[in-house]
Amino acid sequence: MSTAPLSAGRYDGLIVGASLATLDAAQGYGEIADAALAWRDGRIAHIGPRSALGADPASLAATVIEADGWITPGLVDCHTHLVFAGDRAREFELRLQGASYEEIARAGGGIVSSVRATRAADEAELLRQSLPRARALLADGATTLEIKSGYGLDFDNERKMLRVARAVGDTLGVQVRTTYLAAHALPPEYAGRADDYIDAVCEWMPRLHAEGLIDAVDAFCEGIGFSPEQTRRVFEAARALGLPVKLHADQLSDLGGAALAASFDGLSADHVEHTSLDSVRAMAAHGTVAVLLPGAFHVLRETKLPPLDAFREHGVAMAVATDCNPGTSPLLSMRQAMQLSCTHFRLTPEEALRGATVHAARALGLADRGVLRVGARADFVQWRIGHPSELCYWLGGGLAQRVFAGGRLLV
Ligand code: NIG
Ligand code: FE
Repeated sequence: MSTAPLSAGRYDGLIVGASLATLDAAQGYGEIADAALAWRDGRIAHIGPRSALGADPASLAATVIEADGWITPGLVDCHTHLVFAGDRAREFELRLQGASYEEIARAGGGIVSSVRATRAADEAELLRQSLPRARALLADGATTLEIKSGYGLDFDNERKMLRVARAVGDTLGVQVRTTYLAAHALPPEYAGRADDYIDAVCEWMPRLHAEGLIDAVDAFCEGIGFSPEQTRRVFEAARALGLPVKLHADQLSDLGGAALAASFDGLSADHVEHTSLDSVRAMAAHGTVAVLLPGAFHVLRETKLPPLDAFREHGVAMAVATDCNPGTSPLLSMRQAMQLSCTHFRLTPEEALRGATVHAARALGLADRGVLRVGARADFVQWRIGHPSELCYWLGGGLAQRVFAGGRLLV
């Protein structure tokens, strides 16, 4: 170190003193105790023990933070429907009185009732209603959000939802990946004409993609959604545009959805409670991530567990997400999703953390985040905890002390 000014400002920021869970190895938390993590231009620029810094921290960075607790990669919520209007609390009551999700859907409630409310809201109103949900996710450590359309179900309203999803990211300084889910439910104006609706979904796709509104394509492959054949048509339209696919697969029954997604090199198959062993093998062969959604499982009081041991045995990466939506998972915390994945699905806290970070990033096709590594995006969270397992241990409460996305302090 010749002179202080030469090294001053080398990094934009440096945080010292906390333990890191880098997750930068196939197994284990990748702990570095009493660590130093520095960033520059939105990327992680240095990681190591504080003792190896070799200079006074104040001489190395424009901003130096003394911290304690633990730092993990920023959480990646890889499956949300957080842009919607209204709520479905009344349906929740009906279900508690014995009505099933499918009965409510078939009686004109369910997804279609959120479609009515979402269509009625203009862009500003939809953003106003959606922002507090996104803010809650960020406050609990999320730095990347996936947001699906699927409550518009016509060209203008799907477009409105996707534009609002982008606006959520722009407003909050968080990265948003948009997923086109027009094949979520059959809108009333297409009653009895599901194949015609799929034609329309495929026709809208290139137009919305041309506006830069679509990062991936999804569908709801289910008895109360769309058939595998209809889903295949949506996927073929996506493939023609070079867009990756993911799927609401095997949530309530096994229609072979996860294998179908895998056959299109799908980024992920989501829910997967009823996924068969053959489908698990197909997912393994194509690197398709299993996205576990314990919030929906919990709220619907499901009992059929995803084939967790088969996923482990065949090396299928498991991600965890909130599925934040007004019907089956009004869940506004990634940590709570991790907690539920441990209690319901018996994930270890380490699996849950990997599922909420590195595997979730994979489920979005993002290779630049989800681990603490030089060159990765500077997305990280400093938590008030003594060990990473506490992230899955506490129910509720605010454990995130600082949340950084792209090197910027969000919370
Ligand atoms: O992921 N399964 C379909 N889609 C959502 C539910 C959406 C809703 O009920 O509004 C889900 O659970
Ligand atoms: Fe969903």
